[in-house]
Amino acid sequence: MVRKTPSWLEKAVFYQIYPQSFYDSNADGIGDIPGIIEKLSYLETLGVTGVWLNPCFVSPFQDAGYDVADYYKVAPRYGTNDDLKHLFAAAKERGIRILLDLVPGHTSVEHAWFKESQKQTPNPYTDTYIWNNSIWDMPQDDLQVVRGYGERDGGYVTNFFWFQPALNYGFAQTDPNHPWMQPVNAPGPQRVREEIKKIMAFWLDMGASGFRVDMADSLVKRDPHKQETAKFWGWIRDWMADTYPEAVLISEWGSPEKAISAGFHIDFMLGFNNPGWVSLFRKRGVGRWRDPYSWSFFDESGHGDIQQFLDEYLPYLDRTKGQGYIALITGNHDETPRLANGRSDRMMKLIYLFLLTMPGTPFIYYGDEIGMKSRDLPSKEGGYTRTGARTPMQWSDEENAGFSHATSDMLYLPVSDDPNRPTVAEQDKDPESILNRVRALIKIRRLYKALDAEADFEVAYAESGKLPFVYRRSKDGQKLMIALNPSAQSVSVILSPNLFDSLPEVVDAPKNAEFNRVQKGWKLTLGPVSGGVYKIS
Ligand code: NOJ
Repeated sequence: MVRKTPSWLEKAVFYQIYPQSFYDSNADGIGDIPGIIEKLSYLETLGVTGVWLNPCFVSPFQDAGYDVADYYKVAPRYGTNDDLKHLFAAAKERGIRILLDLVPGHTSVEHAWFKESQKQTPNPYTDTYIWNNSIWDMPQDDLQVVRGYGERDGGYVTNFFWFQPALNYGFAQTDPNHPWMQPVNAPGPQRVREEIKKIMAFWLDMGASGFRVDMADSLVKRDPHKQETAKFWGWIRDWMADTYPEAVLISEWGSPEKAISAGFHIDFMLGFNNPGWVSLFRKRGVGRWRDPYSWSFFDESGHGDIQQFLDEYLPYLDRTKGQGYIALITGNHDETPRLANGRSDRMMKLIYLFLLTMPGTPFIYYGDEIGMKSRDLPSKEGGYTRTGARTPMQWSDEENAGFSHATSDMLYLPVSDDPNRPTVAEQDKDPESILNRVRALIKIRRLYKALDAEADFEVAYAESGKLPFVYRRSKDGQKLMIALNPSAQSVSVILSPNLFDSLPEVVDAPKNAEFNRVQKGWKLTLGPVSGGVYKIS
């Protein structure tokens, strides 16, 4: 079934805000919602049209808010529900839609439902979570079970850390030896589904424009082909299409063809599931993706191989065409190191040229637009190795990099200690900055329909071990060609004479890029770490 997609997604560029670290308006050391409202003009000048806000609800913050204790209430450290409502409205006035982070798979152990569920006496929440029948039952191989917590004679299934008990959506495959593995249509799982829908309606009614959905594929257990999980999302999508046709669902799934056919508008390519995405700019022998034997495509050595990405991406694109979008991200709150670590400014600009001319929906993680770097830091709120990518936004060279007027020891996380740390204020003034390049590229994306999310994509030149990488985008007769050279050496290629009829017109290319007609076709030469966008006919 092909479902309709809101038209605003055609041109959407998203920005991810980690609320703890964006802007602190009340000098308590932690970012907040009024702080985001103050910075809306910045987002507007950047040109983004959507924001994904990490969880901002009441929580004990053992996993930075992915352990929700009250889905209906903004955590006091970020402000009030009214502040959030104000943010929705103020952002919309500037053409920016705010999406919340929905955590449907698990709650905190501090959630009122779980406090009831762990009681020995049966009550309406007994089956809201997944409990086995006896504390002495040994855990099942594929399920993480916590034993010895609470009054109840049983262990509970968790989704992530021990304090994140899985909500009960039932099991696709039940087991007569374990009757506690309830079918999806049992009363407990049915009630959970209704509760999640109620939560979504609450925020959509208040003005939210949709949700990024945490661990979207995790809901129904023993669901190897994710069919039952997909049915749930299909039900939600159809309801949203009827009731909130402009609202959008984005999944943390990492499998676009599955997520989009389940009902999501957009799915991310992500480190844990997408080696092709990792091969773009996350292979560099450091951090989580330690792999000394291979190189990122965006590496000045020129040893990268775009084919690794294309082998994964092209089938996704083919199978999701006309139904939803793939999100290519610069990074997120789970990815360390940040994109800019170990990269030159010119390489950052080239990466943005790629991300902002590809199909689907680009996502910029706060700070990546100025090339903020991460560093190793002690864990904060369950961040562990992810913590370094969550430090305060660097606004200026004022105290605490302009993030907060609190004393520096009160800050949620320390600001970068690099004396050359990039800031918005300094990059704002510099026409050659990464920030101004991102702004210019977003403008180009908005100007050309051939760069729309669903405009066609075709590889024009991509050879393992060779450069550049060249692709075409087109829509309604408008055609663009994009060519990228990540290596520190100049490169040349002879493109087929059939690709276009007359000399391409420069939309955006460095002066040293050259196009010449030669006997066998068109010869393109690109200087070190550079790329161009051309109009072709
Ligand atoms: C994915 C989130 O992005 C991550 O930060 C969180 O820890 C887990 N899901 C658990 O909710």
